[in-house]
Amino acid sequence: MSSSTSTLNVDSKSVELAVKDGTIGPSVIDISKLYGQTGMFTYDPGFTSTAACESKITYIDGDAGLLLYRGYPIEQLAEHGDFLETCYLLLYGELPTAAQKADFDYRVTRHTMVHDQMNRFFQGFRRDAHPMAIMVACVGALSAFYHDSTDISDPQQRMIASMRMIAKMPTLAAMAYKYSIGQPFVYPQNDLDYTSNFLRMCFAVPCEEYKVNPVLSRALDRIFILHADHEQNASTSTVRLAGSSGANPFACIAAGIACLWGPAHGGANEAALKMLEEIGTPDRIPMYIAKAKDKSDPFRLMGFGHRVYKNYDPRARIMQKTTHEVLNELGIKDDPLLDVAVELEQIALKDEYFLEKKLYPNIDFYSGITLKAMGFPTSMFTVLFALARTVGWIAQWSEMIEDPSQRIGRPRQLYTGAPQRDYVTVAQRG
Ligand code: CMC
Repeated sequence: MSSSTSTLNVDSKSVELAVKDGTIGPSVIDISKLYGQTGMFTYDPGFTSTAACESKITYIDGDAGLLLYRGYPIEQLAEHGDFLETCYLLLYGELPTAAQKADFDYRVTRHTMVHDQMNRFFQGFRRDAHPMAIMVACVGALSAFYHDSTDISDPQQRMIASMRMIAKMPTLAAMAYKYSIGQPFVYPQNDLDYTSNFLRMCFAVPCEEYKVNPVLSRALDRIFILHADHEQNASTSTVRLAGSSGANPFACIAAGIACLWGPAHGGANEAALKMLEEIGTPDRIPMYIAKAKDKSDPFRLMGFGHRVYKNYDPRARIMQKTTHEVLNELGIKDDPLLDVAVELEQIALKDEYFLEKKLYPNIDFYSGITLKAMGFPTSMFTVLFALARTVGWIAQWSEMIEDPSQRIGRPRQLYTGAPQRDYVTVAQRG
């Protein structure tokens, strides 16, 4: 893989560093021996120039607005495939044959129920608990229920843990929602497909028959595909770092959920919808654009900008189309939030500030409007993101465990605190 070297001059020393090439995308300079050779670390807060691992799963070209899962463009997967097919692809590296797909669907479906004592776990939460708080706790708690799938050195146990998490995440997410609104939990119904089953667990009640709307189910399934993986983002890196110490898979995914919750990451869909509601009407948009540009104001346009995409987020385009499909299906002709979103996007895309900084709508800009129209409360948006991203986290975690060069993740630092000094007793302190 190493194709050339690069030379770094430090003080009077000259160090040769190997350059490694990937299949596509920027090459990397291998600095793993730099400290030994120079006594210096590299410094890159936020990892803007640092590749933390080698991966074969997802590729993003942020300038071109390109996203590939195992080489396949996101647009093609979202158009032609379903979420479980994407899960298979991310986990195993290839699209499944019909027999492999049927077997995979079957295996996931047979793991959808959670241990009955999980119900009691839920009773401990306040009804107004944020469902992400419940998800962090309950997914972490799975390690206390499934002792037979926590040995990470056993490939069979790793596989069962992966199946369990992909299968149980919709059940737990629906339970978190049902608990918050005081309705009884709805058990999974295994003759439904993955996403229809989830919709039913969220919106069915025992006193009425519930019929899944296939258009909404397909739209949500596509939303899950869009969120399934996104290479080394903050939550995925968190999962990899947690997993690098040998922690069990349920605990690692719980760590990923905790990281995803933040408004700069998965919490942005919730924040974007709240922002659109706060703006309220198109005439107030200029005021918010001015706030976003004002350096003394912490306000940012939520759903805009991305660390990697310096072009339109390809997921945002598909999401925008899905929004219109869902609103049409539900007969929502005029959605004031959609009016604000469309106008805000148009204004921002012509504004010098956003153009110069290459700030384009990201996936979260339109997802909130779609999920709200489907009946999900704002607090569930990030939970749905976590549900879909679970497969990406698992695929990345598995890849790391199987990588022979894997070591515990242990970043270094530039220390700027006090130099060594002697302890002073309280009586002597001025
Ligand atoms: N509104 C206004 N200004 C912005 C925005 C925004 N949404 N995003 C970035 N900027 C400005 C920022 O102030 C900075 O300006 P300057 O160079 O003058 O200081 C410049 O653009 C670069 O921003 P940054 O914070 O250094 O960029 P980053 O790569 O560290 O942050 C981001 C990326 C996504 C956290 C950021 O764009 C942001 O906060 N966006 C809003 C939150 C959001 O929508 N997040 C969802 C991301 S997509 C889903 C996911 O992957 O989780």
